[in-house]
Amino acid sequence: MYGLVNKSIQNLVETNFGPDKWEAIKLKSGIDIDYFISTQPYDDSVTFKLAVAASEVLGISVDEVLVAFGEWWILKTSMEKYGGLMQAGGNNLKEFLMNLPLFHDRIMMIYPKLTPPEFKISEVEDNSLVLHYFSKREGLVSFMRGLLLGLGKLYESPVTLEHTLSKTTGSDHEAFKVSW
Ligand code: HEM
Repeated sequence: MYGLVNKSIQNLVETNFGPDKWEAIKLKSGIDIDYFISTQPYDDSVTFKLAVAASEVLGISVDEVLVAFGEWWILKTSMEKYGGLMQAGGNNLKEFLMNLPLFHDRIMMIYPKLTPPEFKISEVEDNSLVLHYFSKREGLVSFMRGLLLGLGKLYESPVTLEHTLSKTTGSDHEAFKVSW
């Protein structure tokens, strides 16, 4: 994944837990990289090692790390670095989610080597819809959950999530019913 992702994890840890914890996490992860360059792609294993090391050092589960990271990604990284793109995504939560299937097309203009997620929308109601999440990667379901919770906070429309389809039960993708 692009260095932007690893840098965002670093930023989350340093802001909430201090620079010492970040150094401890980097050491524990065994990664031999002094600092990440946002526009450089790194092996996915770097990101996953950081998430596991963060869980060990902070004493929380990997899922909890990924949920926190998802929220941070929306509320801090995306809003501070790409506020214009985020605003163009929609005027409210429903609009943003309806536009999500095309969102990473624009990101690919900035990060051409992106391996983006794919999204589809179904069962649209006034206060809910089903978001289908297709990924070439494993283990990012809790990240997705954190992203959706972060969007709910961003639009001041708190969400509840129901995980309706999962690869662990034979589906070829994940789906969440998102209600607000
Ligand atoms: C301006 C805002 C955003 C930027 C710059 C961005 C950029 C990225 C980047 C660089 C990656 C790593 C993939 C790679 O390097 O190959 C990524 C992955 C991902 N993004 Fe975004 N993204 C943004 C907003 C969003 C939003 C709003 C969502 C959904 C609510 C989202 C969902 C995801 C997911 C689920 C992944 C994991 C990829 C996978 O499953 O394989 N992103 N994005």
